[in-house]
Amino acid sequence: MEKEVIDKYRKAGRIAGEARELALRKTRPGVKLLDIAEEVKAYIIRKGAQPAFPLNVSVNDIAAHYTPTYNDERVIGKDDLVKLDVGAHVDGYIGDTAATWSARPHDLVKAVERVLKDAIKILKPGTRVGEIGTTIQESADAQGVGLISNLTGHGLDRYVFHGEPSIMNTRNDSGHVLKEGDVIAIEPFTCPTNGFVKESGTTEIYRFLQRRPVRLPEARKILDIAENKYHSLPFAKRWLYKEVSPIKVSLAMRQLEGVMALEPYPVLREVSGKPIAQAEHTIIIQDKPIVTTMIGE
Ligand code: CO
Repeated sequence: MEKEVIDKYRKAGRIAGEARELALRKTRPGVKLLDIAEEVKAYIIRKGAQPAFPLNVSVNDIAAHYTPTYNDERVIGKDDLVKLDVGAHVDGYIGDTAATWSARPHDLVKAVERVLKDAIKILKPGTRVGEIGTTIQESADAQGVGLISNLTGHGLDRYVFHGEPSIMNTRNDSGHVLKEGDVIAIEPFTCPTNGFVKESGTTEIYRFLQRRPVRLPEARKILDIAENKYHSLPFAKRWLYKEVSPIKVSLAMRQLEGVMALEPYPVLREVSGKPIAQAEHTIIIQDKPIVTTMIGE
C-alpha cells in the first residue's frame, strides 16, 4: 500500500477514534442522543475529515443503525447500554470504530473489549477469516457471554464501507486469507446469551445505490446529494433538511427507496430484547498491523 494511502487511513482512523472518545465523554444520563450525534459530526469535520456514516447511537437491545431524527427528543437513561459507532473518512479512506457506554462498569462491555483485543492479536498477512470468528467465539465462551451471530465485521475500501470479506463473529471455516494491505473492521457484539438481530422500527440512514428516474424534483436533488456529496456512503435523513424542504424529504425518500435508488439501513434490534454491547476497530493488515482507530493504548 502506498504511504500516502496509509497516511489517509491513519488520519481518518485517528479522527474517528478521537470522535469515539468524545462521544463516550458526552454520553451521560439526561443528554439528548441528537446532541451527541451532532457534536461528533462537527468534530470530525473540524479535524479535517468527513463522516463516513452518521453516528450510530444504539441503546440497549438496539444493536445498530439508530441515528436520531432531526427533532429527536430521546435522552440517555441511567441504566442504558449505549453503543457509539463512529465513521470518518479522508478522501474516501475510512476509519470505523465503536465503543459502548454504561454508567457503571458492565460485564458485557468488559467482555466485548476483551473479545476485540483477542481477535486483533491474531491478525497478520495469512490469517484466515475463519480463525477470526473462532477466536471471537472462544474468547466470548471463556468469559461466559453470548454473541450476536448475524452481525459481522467487514473489509473497507476507498468509499466502500461494507466491503469484502465479511467477517463472521462466530466459529466458522471461511478459508478467505487476509493479505498485506487489506483494511478490515472487526466488530463483535456481546449479549448475555447468544442472540440474533432483526430489522425493526424506522429508517433514518440511507445510501446511494443507483441512478433511477424519479418525478419529484426534491427526489432528484437528494439522489444527487447522496451520490456526489456523500459519495455513496451512508448518510442521515436529518442531514438533508438544510438543503431540501422538510415537508418533501420523507415523500422523496419513499420514492427513492421504492425504485431502489437508495439503500435503507433499518434499525436492528435483538429479537428477544437482550441488551447488547459492541466494540470495533479498523486495522491495516501488514506484518506489524496498524490499528488506525486506537487512541493512546
Ligand atoms: Co463497521
